[in-house]
Amino acid sequence: MTVTDIPDIAAAITERYPIIQNGLLPQWQKPGDPEWDAAQWALKYVLNSVEDREGIDQAVDSFAQTSIDFLRLQARFRQTRKYARTSTEGLVDELYSDPEEMQGHYLDGLAMTYAMWPNHAKLLDFYRREFVASLPDEPVSMEIGPGHGLLGFTLLSDRPAARYVGVDISEPALAFIGDAFAANGMDADIELIAGDATNLSDERIPSQADSIVCCEVLEHVDDPAMILQAVRSRLAPGGRTFLSTVANLEAIDHVYLYEDVGQIRTMIEANGLRIVDDRPMELPGDDSEGFTPLNYACIAELA
Ligand SMILES: C[S@@+](CC[C@H](N)C(=O)[O-])C[C@H]1O[C@@H](n2cnc3c(N)ncnc32)[C@H](O)[C@@H]1O
Repeated sequence: MTVTDIPDIAAAITERYPIIQNGLLPQWQKPGDPEWDAAQWALKYVLNSVEDREGIDQAVDSFAQTSIDFLRLQARFRQTRKYARTSTEGLVDELYSDPEEMQGHYLDGLAMTYAMWPNHAKLLDFYRREFVASLPDEPVSMEIGPGHGLLGFTLLSDRPAARYVGVDISEPALAFIGDAFAANGMDADIELIAGDATNLSDERIPSQADSIVCCEVLEHVDDPAMILQAVRSRLAPGGRTFLSTVANLEAIDHVYLYEDVGQIRTMIEANGLRIVDDRPMELPGDDSEGFTPLNYACIAELA
């Protein structure tokens, strides 16, 4: 299969997995919308990174698995209003340290969501235009839980002289990033460190960063305040952080439940950060009653 753009890949996904077609970007956005451009950027990253590995068919399957896992778990969540997982116990062994799970589908599937899920494309657009573009020319930058590496790649593409340090609890994710960057022609000298963001002690991690990115990680830990405290303590004066998370949205590894956007904002601000801009993004087409599933992203500074 040869695909190079959003409509091609959406058509390929729809043909094989019609059950997820309503959630795909072209149902909600059109070429020319800013999110579309961000999605195309993400798609290029995914296509380059899968080219020498399993290929696009497998990437489509990985994305479909991520989407179908979401539909299944979200249907359960509508009934229970609780995530299926109630703690991180077993998560590292079962998922994050397993190369077959992480490199086999989790990371490709997740990276593809930035090309295919409207809210993730919006988030990426917000990140590129309002956060990355505001950074100094040579920022000391740190990313918590980079996963597939798309956000770090985006930052380094715009700020090639940045120092970039990525910390992830998943060793297979760190290996994935090295390969994906190489496949995308990124030759920046990056530092990747295996570590738990709720307990950062590695002395290679910058103590004062101009930029700290932490996307889709807060909901994956038992106590997100510990990550927010780490962000606050390592943010340089004048530095900025880009944070994202979700409320009432399931995934196989979501643990901490935010029930509304107010809880997210309150926790961020209670941990010494001041939100300067944010984007609560309701799930398109959702008809849940009594609760609102949403993605959330913000730019914050030291309070
Ligand atoms: C959902 S992925 C997010 C990847 C990417 N940041 C994004 O926005 O798509 C969560 C990532 O956080 C990592 N992670 C989970 N718990 C962590 C922890 N306690 N410390 C560091 N990384 C963690 C996982 O290994 C995974 O790579």
